[in-house]
Amino acid sequence: MTFYNGYNKLKSCFCAILALTLWLMVFNTGCTDYNNAEKLINNRCSVCHSTSRIFKGHYSDSWEEIVDRMIRHGARLSGAERAEILEYLKNKDD
Ligand code: HEC
Repeated sequence: MTFYNGYNKLKSCFCAILALTLWLMVFNTGCTDYNNAEKLINNRCSVCHSTSRIFKGHYSDSWEEIVDRMIRHGARLSGAERAEILEYLKNKDD
């Protein structure tokens, strides 16, 4: 049935567009978050040492411990900023 086929095509086209839109949304928020995390690191973590120590370092599982140690050293981060930086650093090493 032509109507049926046409409807199916329309449906898969709609699904493709929906999937693409969702993918772009996820991808874009991912980018914004990472840019913000990088900004935070450049602003707050460069006070005592160079950020190359951070961007080149591979500490994978230890990031949480390290960032908390930096906060004890005197790094100024709110709870949300700490979480954002940790999310970025943990994914960076993958
Ligand atoms: C108040 C000063 C200060 C700030 C701000 C600071 N750090 Fe540090 N950082 C240190 C000192 C001191 C050391 C060396 C001693 C140590 O490892 O605890 C260090 C060492 C490090 C190391 C090497 C650790 C290792 O085990 O070799 C990493 C990675 C690091 N910092 C990441 C960060 C990150 C990420 C931030 C931002 C959230 C940050 N630092 C902000 C003082 C600071």
